[in-house]
Amino acid sequence: MIENIAVIGLGKLGGSMAGCLASRGFNVIGVDVSQKTVDAVNAGRAPAEETGLAQLIGTNKERIRATLSHEDAILNTDLSFVIVPTPSDARGAFSLQYVAYAFEGIGKALAKRDNYHTVVLTSTVLPGSTRYGLLPILEEFSGKRCGRDFGLCYSPEFIALGTVIRDYLNPDFFLVGEFDERSGAAVASVNSRVALNDAPSKRMSIENAELAKISLNSYITLKISYANMLADLCERIPGGDVDVVSDAIGMDKRIGRRYLTGGFGYGGPCFPRDNVALNFMGKYLGAATELLEMNDDFNRTISPRFVEKLKPYLREGSTVAVLGLAYKPLSHVIEESAGMYLCLTLAGRGFRVVGYDPLAAEAQSALRLHALVADSIAACLHDAECVLVTTADDVFKALKPQDFIGNKESVTVVDFWRCLPDPIRTHPSIRYVPMGRCIDNTAATDKLQSLWRPDKN
Ligand SMILES: NC(=O)c1ccc[n+]([C@@H]2O[C@H](COP(=O)([O-])OP(=O)(O)OC[C@H]3O[C@@H](n4cnc5c(N)ncnc54)[C@H](O)[C@@H]3O)[C@@H](O)[C@H]2O)c1
Repeated sequence: MIENIAVIGLGKLGGSMAGCLASRGFNVIGVDVSQKTVDAVNAGRAPAEETGLAQLIGTNKERIRATLSHEDAILNTDLSFVIVPTPSDARGAFSLQYVAYAFEGIGKALAKRDNYHTVVLTSTVLPGSTRYGLLPILEEFSGKRCGRDFGLCYSPEFIALGTVIRDYLNPDFFLVGEFDERSGAAVASVNSRVALNDAPSKRMSIENAELAKISLNSYITLKISYANMLADLCERIPGGDVDVVSDAIGMDKRIGRRYLTGGFGYGGPCFPRDNVALNFMGKYLGAATELLEMNDDFNRTISPRFVEKLKPYLREGSTVAVLGLAYKPLSHVIEESAGMYLCLTLAGRGFRVVGYDPLAAEAQSALRLHALVADSIAACLHDAECVLVTTADDVFKALKPQDFIGNKESVTVVDFWRCLPDPIRTHPSIRYVPMGRCIDNTAATDKLQSLWRPDKN
C-alpha cells in the first residue's frame, strides 16, 4: 500500500494537493525549485495563495516536509505527482520545458532506486507529450525501463482557483491515463483514499486522458460562449431575459444549468489557453477544429462588442468606473480577465477609466498608462457617469443607491450578471441596464413584428 507520496511543484495546485494528501493520512515530501516555497512548507505555512491552504498545511505539518532535492523525494516515496508550470508557447501549445527539467531530476533519482516507483504527471499537457516528449527523459536519465522498473501515468485534476482543496477532495471523477495496468492501479488506489465522496477513477490510455483533460475545459468555454450568445439574443427580443431561458434549458439533463449564466467572457489561467492549445493540436493533426477558433474569437471580441452596446450611455470623454478586474469573484487573478480587457478597450476609445477590485492588486501595474485603479469603491465611483459591474462580487451586490449616485444628478449602472438588488434597479436617479435582458421593448417589438408582418411597417 502506498503511504509515502512526493509532490513536485508546490504552487497553487501542487501546494494544495500536498496539503490534501497529508490531510488524508499520506506522508508527503514536497519538492520545489524555490527556496522560499520550501521554507514556507517546512515552517507549516502555505506556499501559495489558495483558499484554506494555510490552515490545511498548518494542521497537517507533521506529515509534510519540503526539499529542493528531487532525489530526496523520489528515494523516500513510492509515487510522485508532478505539477509544475506548462506555460503556453508562441504556437499556442504548452511548453514542456519545466516538466522536462523535473523529469530529468526524477530520472536521475530513479537510477539510484532499487524498487518500483510510479511517476504521475498532473500538469496540463497536449496529447503525445507524456509518452513521446517526457517518458524518454525518464528512461534516458534513469537507465531503466518504463513498465518494468517504474510506472508512468498522466492524471490531471479538475479544480478551479479559489476552490482547489474542495474540488480535489470531492471531484466528479479522477482521470487516469496509464502506461500500463500496474501504473494505473497505483494512482487509482491513492485516489480512492483521497476522495471524500467515493469519486471513481476513470482509467484509460495516456493519450485519451491528455485529450479528455483539455477537451473538458474547452467544452465548458463553448457552453459559456453559448450563454453569452443567448444573452445577446435576449436583449433583442421583447421581454427577453437570459436567466429565464437558461433556467429552462438548464433543466434538461443533457444540458445542465452550470456555466449557462450569460454574462461576460471567460478568462483566467486555464480556459482561454486550453481552448487555443486544443485548436493548435487539431490543426497540427489536420482535424476540423475551426469551432474552437471561432469560440476563441467570439470571446476575445466580447469587450469591443460591449463597448459598442454601451455607446448610448457614454459621452465623449466620460468617466467610466469598472467594478471587477479579476477574472471571477473572490479571486486576485487578472490573467485573461474580461474586466481588464474592457478597461483597455474603453481607454483605447478615449474614455477616462477608473477600475476597482477587492482582491486584484496586480491590476494597478497592469493597467498603468491606460486606466486608474482606485483603492476604494468610493474613490472609483466618485466621478463616474457610468458604472460597469463585471463580476458578481458580494461587495458590489451590497452597494446602496447612494454609493453610485454620490453628489451627481444621475448615473448609469450596467450590470453584466444582473446581480444588483432592487433598490439599485428601481432608483429614479439610476439608469439601470441589465445585460442579457431586453430594455427597449418598443424597438424590439417593432423589429420582430416587421419580420412577420412586413406590411404593417
Ligand atoms: N492553476 C490552475 O487553476 C490549474 C488548474 C488545472 C491545471 N493546472 C495546471 O497545473 C500546472 C501547475 O499550475 P499551478 O497553477 O499550480 O502553477 P504555479 O505556477 O502556481 O506553481 C508551479 C510550481 O512549480 C515549481 N517548479 C517549477 N519547476 C519545478 C521543478 N523542476 N521542480 C520542482 N518545482 C518546480 C514552481 O517554483 C512553482 O512553485 C500547470 O500545468 C497548469 O496548467 C493549473
